[in-house]
Amino acid sequence: MSQNPEIVYQAPLQGFTDFTYRNVFQEVYGGVSKYFIPYLSYIRGKEIKKSLLKEIFPENNKALPVVPQVLFSNTTELFELVSILVDNGYKEINLNLGCPYPMATNRGRGAAWLDKPDDLNETLQQLFAKEFPTKFSVKMRAGMKNNQDFKPVLGILNKFPLSEIIFHPRTASQMYDGKANPSLFAEALSIASHPLVYNGDIFSEADFQELKTILPDQKSWMTGRGLLMDPSLALRLNGMEMDLKLRKQKLKEFHDRLFQEYSERLQGSGHFLMKMNQFWSYFCESFENPHKAIKLVKKSSNVLKYNAAVVEIFRDLFVNDDL
Ligand SMILES: Cc1cc2nc3c(=O)[nH]c(=O)nc-3n(C[C@H](O)[C@H](O)[C@H](O)COP(=O)(O)O)c2cc1C
Repeated sequence: MSQNPEIVYQAPLQGFTDFTYRNVFQEVYGGVSKYFIPYLSYIRGKEIKKSLLKEIFPENNKALPVVPQVLFSNTTELFELVSILVDNGYKEINLNLGCPYPMATNRGRGAAWLDKPDDLNETLQQLFAKEFPTKFSVKMRAGMKNNQDFKPVLGILNKFPLSEIIFHPRTASQMYDGKANPSLFAEALSIASHPLVYNGDIFSEADFQELKTILPDQKSWMTGRGLLMDPSLALRLNGMEMDLKLRKQKLKEFHDRLFQEYSERLQGSGHFLMKMNQFWSYFCESFENPHKAIKLVKKSSNVLKYNAAVVEIFRDLFVNDDL
């Protein structure tokens, strides 16, 4: 391992990085300094989905350095969600200013805040006046539609004692199209008075090395889809040597532990198969022929067929190994 390690965070991905996933990830791989819990938010006025509450319960995150996140449209929602997290003992809470989905932004949540800096200023003033016993960090995009929106927003964020800002250099209207733009991040670095964490499109060691040439002094990173595709990525970004054989063994162990945990936790094979299908939608990228792997999984109409599909996928993977 390097003397001067890179700090790698696992991004929150609603529906993917749930507490089962986070715990198994930490047990089999690790290499992540903080796991961000997908956002807690209201639906239909004052309701919070049970599944979102389960994510933040301390008993589901016992051995994990986790940071919960709130998605909110006004101070009432913000204070109530923060209070729930404070009552559950959280000492850092992340504010979501980046969710690009119209379901959130049409209600004034997520990236919609990037379009209303004055409201954001007022909201943060009220938040910090409350003196909640917790730190706050921010996760944001470069803008709603305009990739220069972040400039006035950072000017406002500079006034508040945030612990750090995770910056994904895409606009919300881009969703995931095009590429994250590291030069916007470099501009943000020159404006922000808080530590910035780079987030976006780190899918491989090669992507990471390219970013390091553009941002040579940057030491903290967040990766989401990259870790879903290759869960050994965080360890390897920190210089851990993993030969192919070990990587393959780890993939099998990771899959099998998730299989076991989800099959114990989820009721009904339909629900379980849906979860494993979703997991494979990124995990298949760890295999030589991702298309074939995902096709085999998708075709599995019951757990027996799923098991046969997995045997076949891993048989292909191990075919040249003396395991
Ligand atoms: C399916 C999905 C769910 C996501 N859920 C959240 C979320 O709950 N909170 C959040 O801040 N970002 C969420 N994101 C955005 C990611 O955290 C991350 O910022 C984005 O994927 C870019 O990073 P990456 O290129 O490393 O994946 C989600 C992204 C995806 C694709």
